[in-house]
Amino acid sequence: MATERTLSIIKPDATRRNLTGKINALFEDAGLRIVAQKRIQLSEAQAGKFYEVHKERPFYGSLVSSMTAAPVVVQVLEGEGAVLKNRDVMGATDPKKAEPHTVRAQFAESIEANSVHGSDSPENAAIEIAFFFAGTEILP
Ligand code: CMP
Repeated sequence: MATERTLSIIKPDATRRNLTGKINALFEDAGLRIVAQKRIQLSEAQAGKFYEVHKERPFYGSLVSSMTAAPVVVQVLEGEGAVLKNRDVMGATDPKKAEPHTVRAQFAESIEANSVHGSDSPENAAIEIAFFFAGTEILP
């Protein structure tokens, strides 16, 4: 499998509870390298644009509010098959359905406040990485 990059977001519910290090340890233990990382406050416009594909969903407004409620940590993770590997480490969107070893099973508060986001395909990873990072900020 090829080396890939994926976009990860540690969400407000997790940054508020000071869980960045614990979550990063799970990524690193799985063989993912954090090759870019910054802690930022998302604006409503940024969060709305990032989650534009969900605009028609009933939870869109609440999702945008929750993503702007506190800082997030945006990251680029690199590794073999990083997109799928990260989704394995994150676990199912709904923490009640997530495998016990996953970030969401261990830390998520709810299906919305689910502690992390990860790109769902290499194509979307490229788009989502460019949303937050310049190429010069990514240091393998
Ligand atoms: P994420 O992987 O960031 O992608 C979209 C987000 O929408 C998801 O994680 C959750 O935070 C949120 N989400 C998805 N489904 C629901 C739902 N049924 N109710 C509330 N929020 C949801």
